[in-house]
Amino acid sequence: MHQQTRIVKDDCLRWLCNTEEQINLTFFDPPFNQGRFYRHYDDNQEKDSYWEWITDVLSALRARTQKGGVVYFMHREKNAEFVLTALRQAGWTFQNLIVWKKMASAVPCTNKFGKHYQIIVLATNGAQSKVFHKLRIDPPLMPHQKYARKTGLYVTDVWDDIRELTSGYFAGKEPMRTTEGERFHKQQSPIALLLRIILSSSNKGDMVFDPFAGTGTTLVVAKQLKRKSIGVEIDPQNISRTEERINELRTSDRVEKFFHYYRHTENIDAVWGKSDENIFTEFTEAGADDLFRIASV
Ligand SMILES: C[S@@+](CC[C@H](N)C(=O)[O-])C[C@H]1O[C@@H](n2cnc3c(N)ncnc32)[C@H](O)[C@@H]1O
Repeated sequence: MHQQTRIVKDDCLRWLCNTEEQINLTFFDPPFNQGRFYRHYDDNQEKDSYWEWITDVLSALRARTQKGGVVYFMHREKNAEFVLTALRQAGWTFQNLIVWKKMASAVPCTNKFGKHYQIIVLATNGAQSKVFHKLRIDPPLMPHQKYARKTGLYVTDVWDDIRELTSGYFAGKEPMRTTEGERFHKQQSPIALLLRIILSSSNKGDMVFDPFAGTGTTLVVAKQLKRKSIGVEIDPQNISRTEERINELRTSDRVEKFFHYYRHTENIDAVWGKSDENIFTEFTEAGADDLFRIASV
């Protein structure tokens, strides 16, 4: 496997307590304690012990994170108060509560508003981020927007242009599948989400970390952007699928199809980690209107 991209079979807390690695950016996507099936993890724990464990992992993570390094902690919106408390208790500094409106149907509720988003909290080790690239995107015009924008829009804390990988038609080819055609890992994150996170908060050569690596989405994106990366995962089956995924890049995992969408970002070539050996051919000219179609192919 590429030396700069590593997947390790371990418990993430144990690994963090034993490593000397210095981390710049972490994508933190743990099991949500909602009774989902995991082969090597019980997703039905006592609430207090779950959040104590999360806080312990966040503390160990901060100890291995460089000053100004960041964590993006994803969870259910109903747990926002616990996420923020765990981060604070582990010594992280809050920066943003990102609303990821996942281009999927809302979950209806009886006596309150239906749920339509997931949260991703950006927090730093220290007062502020050492690296933050203000990305610019170019989404299609809304019906009430009359004139095309010349330089796109900058990304805010509401992300409504990244589709989650559902089980239906819109999931396209990106989800890893079993030989029976079932989704291999129901919580696989979209590459477009990791692209945004890694582009925003790291530079080429930085160390990107994923303590709950799952299918290796973070590693697959980091490698294409010339960042170093380490993923830790307890499930050996997930590890083997991640190794396959990293060693043989699938067309559906290629990030260059999104380059055009971010083209108005200042210094985009450097932010992207683009170099001579990058091949930007078939997707480079894709227009903004194509993005949402491409994202689901
Ligand atoms: C929500 S999923 C992450 C999905 C991932 N973002 C992806 O794109 O595939 C959480 C993962 O954490 C793993 N896991 C659970 N407990 C763990 C632990 N203590 N250390 C490392 N990995 C763990 C599970 O096996 C599962 O694959």
